[in-house]
Amino acid sequence: MARLVVVSGTGTEIGKTHFATALVLAWGRRGYAVAGLKPVESGVPAGSWGADGAALEQASTFHVKRCRPPYLLERAVSPHLAARDEGLEIRPEVIQAYVAPFQGDADAVVVELAGGLFSPLARNLTNADVAALLQPDAHLLVAPDRLGVLHDVTAAVRAARATTPRAAPTGIVLVTPAAPDLSTGTNAAELAEVTDVPVLGTLPRTAVEELARSAAVARILDRL
Ligand SMILES: Nc1ncnc2c1ncn2[C@@H]1O[C@H](COP(=O)(O)OP(=O)(O)O)[C@@H](O)[C@H]1O
Ligand SMILES: [Mg+2]
Repeated sequence: MARLVVVSGTGTEIGKTHFATALVLAWGRRGYAVAGLKPVESGVPAGSWGADGAALEQASTFHVKRCRPPYLLERAVSPHLAARDEGLEIRPEVIQAYVAPFQGDADAVVVELAGGLFSPLARNLTNADVAALLQPDAHLLVAPDRLGVLHDVTAAVRAARATTPRAAPTGIVLVTPAAPDLSTGTNAAELAEVTDVPVLGTLPRTAVEELARSAAVARILDRL
């Protein structure tokens, strides 16, 4: 069975895809057959691949099962709304069935969830429920290294532990934001004071290729 890593986040547009793609590239360069997957993506023109899914697929070294993600949704809105518009309901077991064959045949699988950890996917279904169902070996919560992150990370961790314990993040990955603030650079140490989930690293702001070669990603990979 492949090692399964779920990448979630405290929100959207914070660097999940950038990190997940760099992680897949770095893992592949260590000689592993790794697949990067994005089962749910909205804002995808009909008949095409989503930008996130395509980036992850291109970075992958495991291509044997190049199959379309199950939920490529047209409208660039929250997946539960985009799905509803198309008369679809996102079902967690469909996501699980999409991931399972990769888990069976690859060495490593990285699954990026859509939006934030508690973003809704359907009535009574959030990304946290999907994370719990997938039972990953590691669940990395991506968060921006900026003001507000102490709240956002502790809120996500506490909510997961209270509602869906199997969806509790196992590691935090901070991303240097495009516009740093006075807290940037201090949040890794501060997070260690307010949560027992380890901060595995702080990513520099750089292109995916360079990020894949960075010491930060190498250290995260060493701990997976
Ligand atoms: N570490 C980083 N260095 C440089 N640019 C980044 C980094 N992380 C994210 N970005 C940029 O920020 C934007 C949002 O990142 P993305 O990974 O797509 O976020 P998410 O998947 O959380 O929605 C993209 O334009 C991406 O290229
Ligand atoms: Mg993304």
